[in-house]
Amino acid sequence: QSALPEGYKLRALRPSDYDTEFLDCLRVLTTVGDITKEQFQDRYNWISRQDGGYFILVIEDTNSSPPRVVGTGALLVERKFIHNLGSVGHIEDIAIAKDQQGKKLGLRMIQALDFIAEKTGCYKTILDCSEANEGFYVKCGFKRAGLQMAHYY
Ligand code: ACO
Repeated sequence: QSALPEGYKLRALRPSDYDTEFLDCLRVLTTVGDITKEQFQDRYNWISRQDGGYFILVIEDTNSSPPRVVGTGALLVERKFIHNLGSVGHIEDIAIAKDQQGKKLGLRMIQALDFIAEKTGCYKTILDCSEANEGFYVKCGFKRAGLQMAHYY
């Protein structure tokens, strides 16, 4: 039920993913900009220091050579005072390469992030998405809740 297609692997992001189309994968979602290897490394190091608070997963297609990152997703674990020091998971930046969509990779990514959220003790996981993606998240077991507000700078 939770299997990926043959040759596809789900794993944590690595520093070497600067060279595996990880950033191109994110470009499916939004603007990424021109990030140098050093900038990538700095941000990767900062994320790694978040001590169980920030996870980035990728799906790698090892059938292609060199192996190529075809999907990604992130989970932030927010540690709170309320609900007896409860934690809330935040799913962010889900992107599946255009030519790989519709193979359940997005669903597997959400299931993996959900698993981490549950294991790290989150009592819920939330995310923001467009109306166009609502159906996808409903299939992943989410339901519409609340209203998003934003203040852009
Ligand atoms: N609307 C309704 N249903 C959908 C949608 C959609 N937009 N997308 C997929 N589904 C359905 C599929 O048909 C499938 O249903 P089934 O089980 O009945 O066959 C189920 O949801 C699972 O679909 P997947 O194959 O796992 O979806 P995919 O791998 O294509 O990933 C995703 C979906 C992540 C939305 C992908 O299309 C994508 O990367 N889009 C561009 C970037 C984007 O919008 N990312 C999400 C931003 S929101 C956020 O990051 C928190």
